[in-house]
Amino acid sequence: MARSLVLSLTLAFLFIGMVSARDWNILNQFKGLKPTTTTSQNGVASLKGPNLNGYCESWRVNVELHNIRDFTVVPQECVWFVQQYMTSSQYDDDVERAVDSAILYLGKTCCEKKKCDGMDAWIFDIDDTLLSTIPYHKSNGCFGGEQLNTTKFEEWQSWGKAPAVPNMVKLFHEIRERGFKIFLVSSRKEYLRSATVENLIEAGYHSWSNLLLRGEEEEKKSVTQYKADVRTWLTSLGYRVWGVMGAQWNSFAGCPVPKRTFKLPNSIYYIA
Ligand SMILES: *[C@@H]1O[C@H](CO)[C@@H](O)[C@H](O)[C@H]1NC(C)=O
Repeated sequence: MARSLVLSLTLAFLFIGMVSARDWNILNQFKGLKPTTTTSQNGVASLKGPNLNGYCESWRVNVELHNIRDFTVVPQECVWFVQQYMTSSQYDDDVERAVDSAILYLGKTCCEKKKCDGMDAWIFDIDDTLLSTIPYHKSNGCFGGEQLNTTKFEEWQSWGKAPAVPNMVKLFHEIRERGFKIFLVSSRKEYLRSATVENLIEAGYHSWSNLLLRGEEEEKKSVTQYKADVRTWLTSLGYRVWGVMGAQWNSFAGCPVPKRTFKLPNSIYYIA
């Protein structure tokens, strides 16, 4: 909480210089004042006026750029915005651009059938990469406004009802058919294995080489360290990891550094 307040204040000071006095100003939020700006026909729209919109979009983009890190909750004034974005066709379009870029990249790399030695690998994250957690956030009406309730979230994961993230089934099979071994590396816990497998198959994924989840030992590590350790292990077995695709920066951090990374949008939660 304290951290997110400091973050909000920092951002507020950044914005002071950029908005005129009549514009929406985040500092008004701290004084308990309502935004004084737009007079639109409906009251809700005035609270969600163009300046708040701009502020929240820049918060979201800076999360994606990894300039903003370690947030525990989405700033309260931007929860509606994050919800709007994550459930919008813009989100789908953004995922599709990432998928297009990955396919373009694959076109220039291995793996022609005749050259394949079975050691070319690709890593996918699961949550908000292959499977969408949006229905969970919808049913809890939260979208990052409160810290994720792990008990509740894992219960939802155990139902195995998560839909595929749009365009990802296509990418998954495109990569698989090019001869890459696909490794699924998730911070989900080991006890969710069968629910996860059933959910993945139900959503249209199959024929991955290995599904790595966190056992008791791995739970002691940070997610970043756990995922880096998996890459170290794959590399030590002789695999060439051509790309990693995930919705958290923890999927890419640490050594060995992947050749290419593809980050999918996710401004709902941050896991280090
Ligand atoms: C998390 O959800 C569970 C199950 O719904 C509930 O019992 C628990 O009180 C919640 N924890 C917090 C911190 O809200």
